Parts: sequence; C-alpha cells; structure tokens
Amino acid sequence: MTITDSKYTEVMHAVEAGFAKHPKRLPSWLFYDEAGDKIFQAIMHMPEYYLTSCEYEILQSNKDKLYQYFSKHDDAFDLIELGAGDGLKTEIILRHFQDRKAAFRYMPIDVSATVLSSLTHRLADILPKLVVHPVNNRYDAALRTLYNDDVNRKVFLFLGANIGNFDPHEAENFVSMIASRMRQGDQLLIGFDLKKDPRLIQAAYDDPHGITRQFNMNLLIRLNRELGATFIPDQFRHYPCYDPETGMTKSYLVSLRAQDVYIAALQTSVHFDRWEVIHTEVSQKYDIPMIETIAAASELEIVDFLYDCKHYFCDVLFKKKN
Ligand code: TRP
Repeated sequence: MTITDSKYTEVMHAVEAGFAKHPKRLPSWLFYDEAGDKIFQAIMHMPEYYLTSCEYEILQSNKDKLYQYFSKHDDAFDLIELGAGDGLKTEIILRHFQDRKAAFRYMPIDVSATVLSSLTHRLADILPKLVVHPVNNRYDAALRTLYNDDVNRKVFLFLGANIGNFDPHEAENFVSMIASRMRQGDQLLIGFDLKKDPRLIQAAYDDPHGITRQFNMNLLIRLNRELGATFIPDQFRHYPCYDPETGMTKSYLVSLRAQDVYIAALQTSVHFDRWEVIHTEVSQKYDIPMIETIAAASELEIVDFLYDCKHYFCDVLFKKKN
C-alpha cells in the first residue's frame, strides 16, 4: 500500500489543513484508527472516565420509559445511531425493545468500518432477530441518504461524548442540521456530559494510568505510519485542561523542543517551536441553560431530561416542535 491510496488522501488533507492553522490543530476523527479504537475501549473502562458508566445507568434505569416514548404510536420506526461505536450501551435498549416486541430496525452510523463490522457481528450473535442496517459513513453523508428510501418514523441517538467533540456553536449547527431533517413525530436523544467538580473532569482526561496519553500519542504514530512522518512521540507532551468557566476540555500535544518533522506524503517539513502546541481535541461539558439554548436555536422541544444518580451526565430527549 502506498501513501497516495485514497484512504490516506483524506488524512493527508486533514493534516495539511490542520498544521496550517494557528495553533496547529488535528481533527478528532483521526484518533479512531484500529489502535485508537482499542485504546478508546480502554479509556471507557477506566474508573476515572465516569461518562460511560453514567450513561449506562441512565439507559438501564430508563429503558422502559424510552420504549414508551419511542414506540408510542405502535408504528414501525428506524432507530438511527450517530457514532454508534461499540454499541455496548445501546444494547441495553435494543434488547429491551425486542423483549417488548417493538417494531423497529437499528441503523448504526459510524466512520470506523472495523468498529461497525464488529458491532454488526456481535448483534447478529446476541440478538439474531434484530434487523440491523449499518451505515459506514460520516454523519452528513449518511443522513442525506436516510430520508430517501422510506416513510418510517425516525428516532435519532447521539450518545456518549459525541456531541462534546463540537464546541457549543458547532453543536448548535449540527443539531439544527439534524432537526431540519426531522419530521413531526421524529425524536432525538442526545447525551450531554454535565459541568461538575473540575477535578473529576480533569482526571477523566488526564488519567494516572497513562491511557489517555497513549490515545493522544497514537495520533503521531498514525501520521508516521500513514503519511511517512518522522514524529518522535517522546518529544511531545500530552496536556489536557478543563476550563470550568466555558465548560471546555481541550487536549494538546506540546512540543518539548524546537524541532522540524518531515512528512513524506506532503513532501514538506513542519516546524515546531519549543512549547508550541497541537490542539487535538475538544470535549465540551454542558449545563442546562446551554442545552436549552441548543434546543431553541434548532427549534426543537425538550421532552425529558434523564439523569444518572449523581447527575454527572444527562440524556435529553427532543422532539420536533408542533
Ligand atoms: N472525545 C471523547 C470524550 O470527550 C473521547 C476522549 C476521551 C478523548 N479522552 C480523550 C479524546 C482524550 C482525546 C483525548 O470523552
């Protein structure tokens, strides 16, 4: 395989555009190559990364409530999950809906083909009667095709830390884009990680096991492998920081010295000053007024707030305004 293969062209363009910015920036989808998918699984299992278990609890204790909301008209619906990942949390409601004989099909959308195929295989194993239509694409492209083929009512799921990858303004645009495609009766469930003790949030993104560090460093290893770059990971430091004022967690890779890194696919060297940063990720935390702002801007109505017992996380159900 050569570095000009199409799979790598997208990576190449993203890196070229990202390194031209000030500060240098890499898009968050770059994290999720095969190694990154595995490290993210490990992140989700760390005790410091409270998000996964909180949302698990929310879905577990509200699965029947969600069944009532989603299948209230008794007609068939499409359950469309944006950024499905390993689908472990979703499995809770899929299983329950099946037990209650809900008429629906499950359409997981994900950029990662590996993650999607292992999800599809696992579901075929554990829930053989479930109708699954996986869509391997970016959200926008996947959404564009969804309304073409049928008239099923749609329920969208956007769980986990997914919406947090956008800043609040981008999140508003994204939710508006989904809302503009929704019809009367369609619903949208979004997971929001909430503002809380800043130290708890800081620890979730700066764990003592070094797993999050490894996740960040994997970006450089990926660029070395796929673009023939010459990054020496040890010459960068992983630095996450949570700002309790804005609710934004940012992760950086900080250059420990002045250095030039050659990137073969771009046939160019990139210079880093000492202490210069690459901004690699945003994880936005929300409060209720921020969530209400998003609803208002997208002309959606909030139906319900579902919390875990500690109120660390919230799944919010929206519907199209009447
Ligand atoms: N963006 C996800 C989140 O906010 C995934 C993630 C967890 C992450 N830890 C990270 C991304 C550290 C980059 C760096 O939870």
